[in-house]
Amino acid sequence: MKTYALVLAAGKGTRMRTNIAKCAFPILDKPIIEYVVERFENSKLVNETILIVGYKKEYFYKLLDNRVKFAVQKEQKGTADAVKSAIGHLKDTKGQTIIVPGDVPLMTSELTDEIIKKHLNDKNDLTVCTMIVDDPSGYGRIIKDSKNNIKKIIEHKNATDKQKLIKEVNTSIYVINNSLLTENILKIEANKLTGEYYLTDIVELLANDYKIGTFIIEDHYQTLGINNNKQASEIEEYLKNKINDKHMLNGVTIESPETVRISFDVKIEPGVTIKQNTIITGKTTIRSGSTIGPNTTIKTAKILEDVIIEDSVITNSTVGEKSYVGPFAHIRDLSVIGKNVRVGNFTEVKNSTIGDDSFASHHIYVGDATVGNRVNFGSGTVTVNFDGKEKHQTIIGNDVFIGCNVNLIAPIKISDDVIIAAGSTITHDINEGSLAIARKRQETKNDFFYEYFKKNNK
Ligand code: UD1
Ligand code: CA
Repeated sequence: MKTYALVLAAGKGTRMRTNIAKCAFPILDKPIIEYVVERFENSKLVNETILIVGYKKEYFYKLLDNRVKFAVQKEQKGTADAVKSAIGHLKDTKGQTIIVPGDVPLMTSELTDEIIKKHLNDKNDLTVCTMIVDDPSGYGRIIKDSKNNIKKIIEHKNATDKQKLIKEVNTSIYVINNSLLTENILKIEANKLTGEYYLTDIVELLANDYKIGTFIIEDHYQTLGINNNKQASEIEEYLKNKINDKHMLNGVTIESPETVRISFDVKIEPGVTIKQNTIITGKTTIRSGSTIGPNTTIKTAKILEDVIIEDSVITNSTVGEKSYVGPFAHIRDLSVIGKNVRVGNFTEVKNSTIGDDSFASHHIYVGDATVGNRVNFGSGTVTVNFDGKEKHQTIIGNDVFIGCNVNLIAPIKISDDVIIAAGSTITHDINEGSLAIARKRQETKNDFFYEYFKKNNK
């Protein structure tokens, strides 16, 4: 006996007004559907997940390849029609299936397992998860008989005024025994009003002959679906606060947490301070003693101990211990900054390594470079890495002192213990221990000013 999860994600999500599928919409930088799939991956009871896709299906194939089985609903003719398209995977299987909408991200794997356990313990044929809400409008209403047994679900559109007063509603989460599902799904007829096939109709179809139970979900966040951008933002806000709270309770200081956005896979050690207007995403780790922000964006970076980063952007890079980045630095594309390095004041580092105790602090561009320890970049230095066709490497040894406004025309190699005079455009490699000057000598014409402006010499 296996437990399957069936996820309905074929919908377009017209109300989001974006050209991505609704279930692909990102919440804290993670597509909604990944929350749903991870829930089943972390469940103790679910063995296999089947994802029903339709609109923009290639996106889902790419994102979840090897993690789920796919079924395709060609046309969106309703939730029962969606389930029909997955029947091939469930035919002749023993066990039960939890059916969920693909646009409900917050349900936990713990709740999932609780629902499945109740279905099994109560020996139900079908379990319908419901909730009791103050404002039931839009939801399918749960119709029960005098003995409190569920008899059917009436969609809002089809409900009478009296039925509309019912506050117990359908969450669109069900558990059903596989044989029952595969034998009955084709019997559901199109709704007379809308022409759609409603999965909710399965309740009425089975009510007389089978055991149908309800499971009331108390925490309504867990059933919250995303139909428009406002709901997406509300769910994101809820998750953001939850994540910030978790970090703060774990010993991270967050100043004005309402302005700080940290996504799931970020690891932050206790003893870190995060300042205002900071966004940290991707698989980022931040070691203790570091201070990040204000106004900083970090995506997939490794920040080691006692680092300070302010007003900067760091992506796919590492910053070593005790380094100080910012204000206004951009470090990107697999750069590695060593220990006790200074990068800031309008400096960009791209796809480069900078060794320990180096200094690149005033309007500098370091691109495609390997830089040694104790290198001092003068203000305005540029590694000229692009010739209009290809990118080239700059290699700089240890203990190199580079004057202001130096162009290093790559490919080029600067050995250890070198001084480069300010204003030089360096086109040839420089040997160890030398001074390189590559600029025209200054010419000074005495008294030229007075002659030129016909003023008397003082
Ligand atoms: C559904 C339920 C309703 C319940 C509500 C809870 C039906 C008929 N109604 O209504 O009783 O109260 O959820 O939020 O089931 N989908 C497909 N293919 C389709 C149609 C939908 O894959 O042809 C998917 C959507 O992508 C979505 C899910 O099924 O993830 C639910 O569809 P949606 O249109 O949002 O149903 P509701 O009107 O919310
Ligand atoms: Ca919905």
